[in-house]
Amino acid sequence: MDQQQMSWRASPVAAMMTAFFMIIMMTVIPGTNGQDQQTGNHPDWPRWCGKVYEAGYPAFDPGGQTVPPTPIGGAAPLLDVQFKPRYSLYLDSETQGEFVVNAPLSQFHGSPWKKTGNGTRSDWLIFSIHMTETDDVLVANKVVVNTTGNVFAFDLSRLRRPADLKPIKVVLYAAPEGGDPTWTATSEILYLPEKKNKTGSVTRLDNLRGGMWFRNTASDQKFAPLLPYGFYSSYDGFLGNNRTAEIEHYADLGLNTITPLTIYRDSTPAFDYMDRIDLKFMYNLREGYKNLTYVREQVLAARDADAIYAYWSADEPDGWQDPFSIPRAAYDLIRQLDPYHPVAVVLNCQNYYFQEYTDGAADIIMEDVYPIGINSTFSKWGTACNATLGDCGCDNCDGNMQDVPERLDTLARYEDWLGLWPKTKVHNPQSFHGQDYWFRDPSPFEEYVMCLLAFNHGAKGIISWVYPTSELLGQAHGALARVVTRSPVVDFIVGTQDDSISGPYRTTPDAAGDVVDVAYWVDGGRRQMLVSVVNGGYADIEQIVNVAVPNAIVVSSVAWMSGNASWKLEGERLSAARLPALSTTLVILDLKTV
Ligand SMILES: *[C@@H]1O[C@H](CO)[C@@H](O)[C@H](O)[C@H]1NC(C)=O
Ligand SMILES: *[C@@H]1O[C@H](CO)[C@@H](O)[C@H](O)[C@H]1NC(C)=O
Ligand SMILES: *[C@@H]1O[C@H](CO)[C@@H](O)[C@H](O)[C@H]1NC(C)=O
Ligand SMILES: *[C@@H]1O[C@H](CO)[C@@H](O)[C@H](O)[C@H]1NC(C)=O
Ligand SMILES: *[C@@H]1O[C@H](CO)[C@@H](O)[C@H](O)[C@H]1NC(C)=O
Ligand SMILES: *[C@@H]1O[C@H](CO)[C@@H](O)[C@H](O)[C@H]1NC(C)=O
Ligand SMILES: *[C@@H]1O[C@H](CO)[C@@H](O)[C@H](O)[C@H]1NC(C)=O
Ligand SMILES: *[C@@H]1O[C@H](CO)[C@@H](O)[C@H](O)[C@H]1NC(C)=O
Repeated sequence: MDQQQMSWRASPVAAMMTAFFMIIMMTVIPGTNGQDQQTGNHPDWPRWCGKVYEAGYPAFDPGGQTVPPTPIGGAAPLLDVQFKPRYSLYLDSETQGEFVVNAPLSQFHGSPWKKTGNGTRSDWLIFSIHMTETDDVLVANKVVVNTTGNVFAFDLSRLRRPADLKPIKVVLYAAPEGGDPTWTATSEILYLPEKKNKTGSVTRLDNLRGGMWFRNTASDQKFAPLLPYGFYSSYDGFLGNNRTAEIEHYADLGLNTITPLTIYRDSTPAFDYMDRIDLKFMYNLREGYKNLTYVREQVLAARDADAIYAYWSADEPDGWQDPFSIPRAAYDLIRQLDPYHPVAVVLNCQNYYFQEYTDGAADIIMEDVYPIGINSTFSKWGTACNATLGDCGCDNCDGNMQDVPERLDTLARYEDWLGLWPKTKVHNPQSFHGQDYWFRDPSPFEEYVMCLLAFNHGAKGIISWVYPTSELLGQAHGALARVVTRSPVVDFIVGTQDDSISGPYRTTPDAAGDVVDVAYWVDGGRRQMLVSVVNGGYADIEQIVNVAVPNAIVVSSVAWMSGNASWKLEGERLSAARLPALSTTLVILDLKTV
């Protein structure tokens, strides 16, 4: 969505609410609590992502850029120790917990990793993780320096207290082998009581691999990997019709989740039906997330639903230049009322106060990169679009499919620069046109390219704007959803019960140019590999394309193919004689046992 599409994206109720807020905001005495002030420079001018978009104003620095920190020079590299519980929550019916310990050498963060006393560099870092309050040790172990994703199990009963809704503080101390403790890191663990009558769902995030795990009645209260794939869905012309057949049609397309643009008060029968058919929903708070009374009322209505998998608080708060405190206040209240489900925000901007709009405000970051059919350099408002001016419908985009993976990489890079633990990412594909920004819908093949590029670059879910869309795009997304939300593909992208997956790893095919993007995931337990190959260009590649696939011995199955590439496995290489424009492939290969 974009600033100037307010009435179009919002339901009438939302438009009324927004108008109401604008009146409230104008009548509040400025500066009393900072809540009424927009962020950035020139808040009195019409801006989007901090930049003026109407003609007649000068370009200026919008502020809020995330930039690489100055590398800390000197002889010794920095060691940056961080840790997190493996999952964002545990239940008191579980016995085993895990911590993930990262100990990368960093250019930017940490303390110098020096030689140890006896004159050789020890590769081991000795650490212990304690409950902050009692100093009880939960894990004592060691990791090799410059490794990440080290997992250590511990017995949850050692938390030695009845589960409750409050996070438990934990602290890690680390030292070089035989050296003095130098590194300290803190984290929190959620150890929650089972839901009393076993109704209502639970979603947790995997802090190692980024995916979601979900349980409810339909999964027999066992956590299963969830790759949400669905649409933001209108009240007008869809959910407001109160016709279950229309929701059933939506689910029958192959979509496993929905983000209704409505609330219980207006659509109770629709939500009840979603519970009944296990159409998992992300609950929308965007129309009133600035009003904590509203947030409370809505969370209490939704939190025990069987099909709820997450909340969506703020819609493009960065685009709107909302005060930083508002999404954070909403987040705190949601988590207080319902720690069993994560909270998502949607970002629109490419580089406007990233940390301020996500840190403490969300567990899941969604991005609205809508690059198809735009003019990325000159807007309908009669201004140029660049880093200091204008709004062309896709912030700082080139106007092509590569904007999607580029944005996901950019967000991950910001987290790295800022020393933040990466959050779960969701891509919001464009399935619309209009408003003089977007001159056409993406084609089905463009949708496939953008979604698979998103997975290759770490996305763990897909929520497209907006349903109803054309039946063509509904069918297209449904077809891909049917493949990626189910076994075996979901196991690779999100994870398996036996935790045997690693990836995505990126690799570059030989002789194929920049637009061919390849990622693969490895299932060490089943000795299989999922390979995703995307030709993100509009031209056929009329030459042999080879992708190295280490240890592959035979094609197990072709899980997905759009376009007509004919892949063969030759030696430890996937090889196609030509690669049609916009073709995408997901192929599963069996690997040698080692
Ligand atoms: C640390 O690991 C990174 C990523 O694997 C690697 O690129 C880098 O060279 C390593 N640094 C040292 C000092 O070994
Ligand atoms: C140096 O100290 C480490 C840790 O105590 C030990 O493992 C290693 O063997 C020592 N190296 C030498 C050369 O003494
Ligand atoms: C128990 O179930 C009822 C109805 O399904 C629900 O309204 C209530 O919130 C649930 N209570 C808890 C603690 O889960
Ligand atoms: C749909 O159901 C809601 C809530 O039950 C009701 O308020 C609304 O009027 C209904 N809409 C139609 C079109 O029947
Ligand atoms: C805030 O939300 C509550 C509950 O929905 C509502 O009654 C109240 O009017 C809202 N306040 C504003 C200022 O919109
Ligand atoms: C964008 O719009 C400007 C002004 O109308 C035009 O000159 C330019 O060719 C357009 N670019 C594209 C890619 O359509
Ligand atoms: C953006 O475009 C405006 C108008 O052409 C120009 O004044 C400004 O310098 C440009 N900004 C950048 C970063 O190129
Ligand atoms: C797909 O490619 C094969 C060989 O490359 C060709 O025989 C076949 O006709 C093509 N199918 C379509 C639908 O283009």
